Amino acid sequence: MQAKVKAHTNIALIKYWGKRNEQLFLPTNNSISITLDRFYTTTSVTFQEGLTADQFMLDGKEIQGMELQKIKTFLDLIRNKANKQLFAIVESVNNVPTAAGFASSASGYAALAAAASKAIGLNLNEEELSIIARQGSGSASRSVYGGYVEWQKGEKEDGTDSYATQIMPADKWDLSILSVMVEAKEKKVLSREGMKRTVNTSSFYQAWLDTIDEDLIAARQGIKNRDFELLGTVLERNALKMHATTLASNPPFLYWTGATVDVMHEVEALREEGILSYFTIDAGPNVKVICQPKDETIVKERLEQLNCVQQIFVCHPGPGVEYL
Ligand code: ADP
Ligand code: DP6
Repeated sequence: MQAKVKAHTNIALIKYWGKRNEQLFLPTNNSISITLDRFYTTTSVTFQEGLTADQFMLDGKEIQGMELQKIKTFLDLIRNKANKQLFAIVESVNNVPTAAGFASSASGYAALAAAASKAIGLNLNEEELSIIARQGSGSASRSVYGGYVEWQKGEKEDGTDSYATQIMPADKWDLSILSVMVEAKEKKVLSREGMKRTVNTSSFYQAWLDTIDEDLIAARQGIKNRDFELLGTVLERNALKMHATTLASNPPFLYWTGATVDVMHEVEALREEGILSYFTIDAGPNVKVICQPKDETIVKERLEQLNCVQQIFVCHPGPGVEYL
């Protein structure tokens, strides 16, 4: 009972930032993302008679402790759904830096959800798979699909209507997403902890909720009409708003470093010169700069000139989960 799956990371244009139910990973708001071609996780799962516990290998290393516990809890969901109590060997390789704001949890849990459910014999459709992946890491619900994706927050208490759907396939609109690495270290406040603190304590959190619908409407419209300026303007504003909520948390926290701000300023300078580019930032110091493919070379060259920039990975919209 073995299956192997490749799943790509995604970058949120409209952020998932806050849960209404932590156990079930139910979000307070819809979010919109692009699945990326360049960063991915490959995971194989083997359920086997005779094993006495789950095993998890990540990038060739045996993982124990809390991280193994997270995998076990996630596999329990799949075992219970399939009504089969077998332990598994999980072998995963991240083609993405782990826990540095490059969304390894999104590709990691989308790949694990798909590989484990196939290996155990569950025949899930994409929505059911998205619901399972969501319960490993919220953003993983979006990585089931390629291209432009929206995760519906849902209304139900049991989470059965909280899954992602595709807005538009990757090949309908090519964009360049430059992942600008200014720091490769693992981050201090993981997204899970950061969003929890924000929901519980940030005096700006209500403002986030009050303005999310207008951002979602503009982003959907920007994608459907391939209106880059509209999409870019709203995705940058939404990222800044998300980070503003962290500043008003108690205790406050900030994911940016000086290098993050330098990249933001360069993007603004490019725009002033008429080269449309926009930034977004997740729960870490690294920046993703989005531009049109015709401007990719110049934007990359300009960002490479900044001393703080260590590496730039050029990404484009990519595919959903692939069974290998
Ligand atoms: P990132 O910015 O990389 O997504 P997160 O804090 O959101 O950082 O997620 C990192 C967590 O995702 C890790 O601590 C681990 O629990 C999980 N993760 C990363 N890669 C994998 C993988 N290949 N399989 C399962 N879980 C993974
Ligand atoms: C800032 O999906 O990593 O990247 O559901 O707790 O695992 P958990 O959180 P996670 O959070 C992602 C937060 C974000 C925004 C986004 O991807 O939408």
